[in-house]
Amino acid sequence: MDKIVIEGGVPLSGEVAISGAKNAALPIIAATLLAPGVHRLYNVPPLADIRTAKKLLGLMGVQFEDGEPLVVDSSRLTGWMAPYETVKTMRAAVLVLGPLVARARQASVSLPGGCAIGARPIDQHLKGLEAMGVKITLNQGYVEAKAKRLHGADITLDLPTVTGTENLMMAATLANGVTRIINAAQEPEVSDLARFLTAMGAQIEGIGTDVLTIQGVKALTPASYTIMSDRIEAGTYLAAAAITKGQVTITNAPVPHMAAVLEKFHEAGVRLSTAGNRIMVEPGGSLTGVDVKTRAYPGFPTDMQAQYMALMTLAKGAAVITETIFENRFMHVSELERLGADITVSGNHAIVRERRQLHGAPVMATDLRASASLVIAGLAATGATEVLRVYHLDRGYARLVEKLSALGARIKRVAA
Ligand code: EPU
Repeated sequence: MDKIVIEGGVPLSGEVAISGAKNAALPIIAATLLAPGVHRLYNVPPLADIRTAKKLLGLMGVQFEDGEPLVVDSSRLTGWMAPYETVKTMRAAVLVLGPLVARARQASVSLPGGCAIGARPIDQHLKGLEAMGVKITLNQGYVEAKAKRLHGADITLDLPTVTGTENLMMAATLANGVTRIINAAQEPEVSDLARFLTAMGAQIEGIGTDVLTIQGVKALTPASYTIMSDRIEAGTYLAAAAITKGQVTITNAPVPHMAAVLEKFHEAGVRLSTAGNRIMVEPGGSLTGVDVKTRAYPGFPTDMQAQYMALMTLAKGAAVITETIFENRFMHVSELERLGADITVSGNHAIVRERRQLHGAPVMATDLRASASLVIAGLAATGATEVLRVYHLDRGYARLVEKLSALGARIKRVAA
């Protein structure tokens, strides 16, 4: 298995372009199941998770032609099962549930089970589908979903789940009548999916708000669509630039969707400015510990918590980082400690105290964003940091080593 080796201490410098958003591309690829025919998707990021999604839809008869755009031919549907082997490696595979019951009136999707960042149940997805007339049974670890025709319903989510909102919105596009999803997730990736559905002929109101109203239609037609760029990737490069006191311009960034992150970095003393879809980071600021609490959008994203923590390890004073979305998303703490960080965890709070310097060491992480935080810390540490289990990074960061090398980082990927 490959590892990434970083010789830290080089201030990053130059320009880096942000790729398409993983968490928008995944539901959009699943949504092609709703409309038989040939779709054209632009700005799909080259990621392991996207390859997994293509493999999964491939099992259902969907054909792909790689390139820009990615051409997706969903004319023929020959299966409706998401096997355990796929769902256990990528939870987002549950996103086929809504589209499959809407188009094929049946689906068999493995329950995801636990994952590295917590239990992550899908009860809200199932509750919503049942309200739309889907009969759900559990059989040997699989959710078996069947429906005659879906009907509209008022669904109030207990919490604003991102993929739950997406699954229900997709199912509702072909239901008979009006569905209202109340307490819907407002993440920009949910809105990007809504816009793709609209391009296919869906009727959706309230996009970007916490109430989505979907008027079901008889059929949808294939569409061409450009996927939004990745706000978490942009935030990750922002943290990398800031921790190395570099001078970096991040291009193609979804700046309007990054307000909470940009504000927090600014408060912490990072010198940054924006112009259109560019973020400019300048050296010279002095980093100060600033507390943060993760929240659903428009709050500070849980997907940036680990990277922000890496930055805080070298900030003056202390910062309290509170994770409110997932119950077990501090696995990076013990690895950051191996690099010399001073962090105390108490429940869902992590208290990060100032260190003058981090020191390279071999580290590994059990999820994507935790791995990203180790890369960020490694870029600032003295000596060599080896980040093991690179496949986590491959899931969500397009050409990470190439992009960081182009910014001057001493980073390489080697076979472990
Ligand atoms: N939850 C429930 N019941 C449900 C659904 C969710 O209790 O039916 C809980 C979860 O356990 C969690 C909270 O609700 O405590 C929020 O989970 P959510 O469902 O919103 O997360 P998700 O849809 O599984 C997406 C992203 C994650 C991101 C979260 C939160 C995709 C493919 N994944 O996951 O992205 O962390 O929203 O913003 O969109 C990542 O990219 O690294 C990543 C993990």
